[in-house]
Amino acid sequence: MTDRTPLVAGNWKMHRDHLEAIQLVQRLAYHLTEEDTDGQEVTVHPPFTALRSVQTLIDSDRLRLILGAQDCHPDAEGAHTGDVSVPMLARLAVGYVIVGHSERRLHHGEDDALVARKARAALGGGLRPIVCVGEGQAVRDAGRAEEVVLAQVRGSLEGVEPDDPARVVVAYEPVWAIGTGRTATPDDAQAMAAAIRAELAERSGAAFAAGVRILYGGSVKPANIRSIMAQPDVDGVLVGGASLSAEDFALIVGHRRL
Ligand code: 13P
Repeated sequence: MTDRTPLVAGNWKMHRDHLEAIQLVQRLAYHLTEEDTDGQEVTVHPPFTALRSVQTLIDSDRLRLILGAQDCHPDAEGAHTGDVSVPMLARLAVGYVIVGHSERRLHHGEDDALVARKARAALGGGLRPIVCVGEGQAVRDAGRAEEVVLAQVRGSLEGVEPDDPARVVVAYEPVWAIGTGRTATPDDAQAMAAAIRAELAERSGAAFAAGVRILYGGSVKPANIRSIMAQPDVDGVLVGGASLSAEDFALIVGHRRL
């Protein structure tokens, strides 16, 4: 089996201005030990307005954090008011970009084809996309979660096939678990991650699938991180609310010490 480097990603959503962002990252750095970041990657995804200040802090204090963004436009430039391109993010040393988060699918009408274009643009510009998929409550209740999520995987990863599979991350975030305090059981998270990997193996071969990291997201907290990370096909987590607390996020990153 390919060794996959675990990834702990903090999605701040629309929280923290650029000054608050500096405070949060400084507190996080204070709580993290070298051991915590050894052998795994840790990303923080502040809003666009805070990317520059967080990047400067990471750089000047040599923090072992990777800067991430929450979205990107598929085009490199153009008449797209309000959008931000991959080359702009790359210039700020952004390493990862979330694409297709359920909040963007829901509130900005993003579909799988657009998400795939964003993921391809990210790869083309040297960034690593974190491609989000996940079913809503009604779909889960109807017993169609796997079918719907695998269709999202096929659509959102269309043409997304870098030479190095470690450059692509898939985040399984069941919509009913986001911000609700309800987490998928570790078994459910594992079952979906394994199904996603099997789908990738069918499409791109077993070796490729074995190198793609699959994250779980949805009410990840210090109290449940260990059982989630213990699952063989879950290679990390995408954390929302708990990433806004330096203490909680540090506990999540340092889950091996818990
Ligand atoms: P919560 O951790 O707040 O449930 O959010 C999950 C999420 O949407 C991360 O992208």
